[in-house]
Amino acid sequence: MAVSQEKVLAVNNLIVNFKTDNGMVHAVRDVSFELNRGETLCIVGESGSGKSVTSKAIMGILARNAIIAGGNIMYRGENLLEVSEDEFYKIRGHKIGMIFQDPLSSLNPIVRIGKQITEAMLLNNDKLKLMYNDLISDDLIHYKNTLAKMNIVINTEKKTIDALRSEIKNKNYKNEADKRKDEELLKTKEQQFKEFERETKAKYLDEAKILKAKLKETQKEAKKKVKAYKKEVDAEYRKKLTDIKQKKNLGNGYDADKYKEELKKVKIERQDKLKITKAEAKKRALQIMKEVGIPEPEKRYRQYPFEFSGGMRQRIVIAIALTASPEILICDEPTTALDVTIQAQILELINRIKAERDLSCIFITHDLGVVANMADRVAVMYAGKIVEYGTAEEIFYDPKHPYTWALLSSIPDVDSKEKLEAIPGTPPNMIYPPDGDAFAARSKYAMNIDFRIQPPYFKVSDTHYAATWLLDPHAPKVEMPKIVSERIRLSLEAAKANKDVKKVSPTDINIMDQDPDKKPDKPDQPDGYFVHVGIDVT
Ligand SMILES: Nc1ncnc2c1ncn2[C@@H]1O[C@H](COP(=O)(O)OP(=O)(O)O)[C@@H](O)[C@H]1O
Ligand SMILES: [Mg+2]
Repeated sequence: MAVSQEKVLAVNNLIVNFKTDNGMVHAVRDVSFELNRGETLCIVGESGSGKSVTSKAIMGILARNAIIAGGNIMYRGENLLEVSEDEFYKIRGHKIGMIFQDPLSSLNPIVRIGKQITEAMLLNNDKLKLMYNDLISDDLIHYKNTLAKMNIVINTEKKTIDALRSEIKNKNYKNEADKRKDEELLKTKEQQFKEFERETKAKYLDEAKILKAKLKETQKEAKKKVKAYKKEVDAEYRKKLTDIKQKKNLGNGYDADKYKEELKKVKIERQDKLKITKAEAKKRALQIMKEVGIPEPEKRYRQYPFEFSGGMRQRIVIAIALTASPEILICDEPTTALDVTIQAQILELINRIKAERDLSCIFITHDLGVVANMADRVAVMYAGKIVEYGTAEEIFYDPKHPYTWALLSSIPDVDSKEKLEAIPGTPPNMIYPPDGDAFAARSKYAMNIDFRIQPPYFKVSDTHYAATWLLDPHAPKVEMPKIVSERIRLSLEAAKANKDVKKVSPTDINIMDQDPDKKPDKPDQPDGYFVHVGIDVT
């Protein structure tokens, strides 16, 4: 259900290099993706694959030795790589917030938590925006909650049908009749779902329509109020200005210096009235602390970072990112430093905030296991490239790239918490990125061609692409590893049994910008190319 197909961010053919004494590091090599409003895009890949460099490029906080050698980053029609520093500053941290892996490094150890939150706010400091947001917040929440509820109800139902569809696709049928029977069943269910979706939408959208109309009215009123306030402040300023000018003209000991001094005072007075006061900032900080689940915010406000647990610290960092009411939240391995139970809580928090605030989210992790409950879409990154992307369902139930298989095999088992199969070998040295498919040297599925020619993106579905020569018609047919297919089977069973879906974001997804029609750079005589090399890397 397409709640939004609005594109908020698009990264196109981004290339980032680093100059080092040992040579040029090719950290990000032609990366493209886009982010739609309200969705979560997960970028997954081993350490060193270029995830953080990509997100830092978006935030404009790359290290000094970085060279952006190509591409663009479009935020609402503006190329972030070209806007003026002033403009970029307005966007970074205000429209786009970022949370890092290690909360300690983003907090100042010797400054009280409250001050760190309010400082971010006072820096941002737009009283008018705050006034406006406060005035409309109740109506906005009502409206969004209604849509969120609708999405949950529809998504929950859709998930069971998706599971059935994937099951049919993956099952080895002994006879055609069985298959046809299942397909009939699927068709009936799909039809029932369509009806259900229509009814549910009718029900909720009626309500949403009324709430939206109310919200619009409130927004109009709020704008008026904010404008009136600004007008009042400006009028007062002009009156004072006229006053001191008159005094200066009259003389009477009111000389140029005195005038200058008074002028400065009047100007600051005006500025202060358009800024948040300390008391207002504190009130708002306490609200946000509550929002991110910090108990006893009044007491916590006065404490230092060391008095907080890792999980609580990450909540503070999230609170700070939220002070500016960003539109996009980039989370770079936000739970990697936390233990498993805390990790789950933080993920839940991010999901909740995302839904409540209608945020678009880029979620970065090396652990595909974390992604399942977060992602609408997944981009798998290896050696500076996106090697596969698709909806979460496609990546989990129908993975195509051997690297994605490897990542799926290495997800820790839910019960034993042990990694099932570590990925053999190590990532390539990015000063000399290999020709062809960079994963070839670690893959038992590698063919000759993988060592020579970069695979293009082969289309799997409208939303699913993978850059692996295994999808070339010339390639021998290869099944995914047993361990992966077995897991898929188990999780499909679990998905069918468990109808409870926590996600509320829309699952309807756009195709990314990479050029799917680009003709593979294919050799004329592919014979020897599509022969498995079968290297044993372990
Ligand atoms: N300032 C830098 N100078 C040189 N190389 C860098 C710099 N920052 C990152 N890199 C390199 O870029 C590659 C990608 O790094 P990064 O994006 O941090 O990986 P990850 O996917 O783990 O977040 C790595 O090979 C890393 O060593
Ligand atoms: Mg990183």
